[in-house]
Amino acid sequence: MADVTGVFLLGVVLFVACTVTAVRGTKFDGVIQASWALDHVVYDGELLKLKLDNFSGCGFASKNKYLYGKVTAEIKLVEGDSAGTVTAFYMSSDGVNHNEFDFEFLGNTTGEPYLVQTNIYVNGTGNREQRMDLWFDPTTDFHAYSILWNPRQVVFLVDDTPIRVYGNHEESGIVFPRDQPMGVYSSIWNADDWATQGGRVKTDWSHAPFVSTYREVQIDGCEWGVGMEWTAEVKRCSESQWGKEGRYWWKEKEMEALSVHQSHQLKWARAKHLVYDYCSDTARFPVPPADCKA
Ligand SMILES: *[C@@H]1O[C@H](CO)[C@@H](O)[C@H](O)[C@H]1NC(C)=O
Ligand SMILES: *[C@@H]1O[C@H](CO)[C@@H](O)[C@H](O)[C@H]1NC(C)=O
Ligand SMILES: *[C@@H]1O[C@H](CO)[C@@H](O)[C@H](O)[C@H]1NC(C)=O
Repeated sequence: MADVTGVFLLGVVLFVACTVTAVRGTKFDGVIQASWALDHVVYDGELLKLKLDNFSGCGFASKNKYLYGKVTAEIKLVEGDSAGTVTAFYMSSDGVNHNEFDFEFLGNTTGEPYLVQTNIYVNGTGNREQRMDLWFDPTTDFHAYSILWNPRQVVFLVDDTPIRVYGNHEESGIVFPRDQPMGVYSSIWNADDWATQGGRVKTDWSHAPFVSTYREVQIDGCEWGVGMEWTAEVKRCSESQWGKEGRYWWKEKEMEALSVHQSHQLKWARAKHLVYDYCSDTARFPVPPADCKA
């Protein structure tokens, strides 16, 4: 009897051990999954690494789509020589008239500054690039890159400092991204035809693999109900303050515009760190785009 119990218990222990191993996920599993070149998406303890080598880049995507919310990734960008590489963190909806909010981190040769390019697509059209350098070295430690999206504004933030705002100016006839649920994505790829110093510096593959490391991916948003009626979902996520996810804090009154403090931070960031703004590129846009005038 004792033997039988022993064998039974051993069986239970093995079963539990195997089950735990099989289902033991990472803390990222609740919100995202590898989406392409799965063998280049590497979990390393509490960290997630995206690798680029001369064979492939890779990426991950959120499991759900969201209509409004705030997403944050804590990223340590490629160390050392990152020239030619781009790491992106972005939100996007689907289809030809899609909306998209991009962070694109443009690599550089060792010791030269990374640039953060942001872009916004509305109803299928982008061409709204801005570029900034940073007030820290983004390759030595993790920093938080966030996108806040609600019916009044889209805000790009770096360590909670706003670096860009796209406000809702529908009253002036300017289209604002709304009503399309967005996925959250990140990827690393080779873009040495344009990314670094205008494409003059190419990727040095002898320095591969190029690795961007994630400590956290956080998504607070109104989760889109798959298979639910579209207009009902838009209404639920746009109008209600409360939902099954809890309170939609990203749509609260104080989220509809920057605070005075945040406005000062934005001014500071632009004054000290802006290196390119499509709104000031008169060679490209002899007539400034309408959303720049707003
Ligand atoms: C979006 O673009 C399409 C053309 O692709 C156009 O027909 C439609 O009116 C645009 N929507 C808005 C809200 O401007
Ligand atoms: C790379 O470094 C050069 C030289 O400092 C700088 O001009 C450039 O803006 C940096 N960033 C990129 C993405 O080229
Ligand atoms: C990739 O890089 C490695 C090491 O530099 C090299 O041996 C290999 O031939 C390269 N492969 C391709 C497809 O370029």
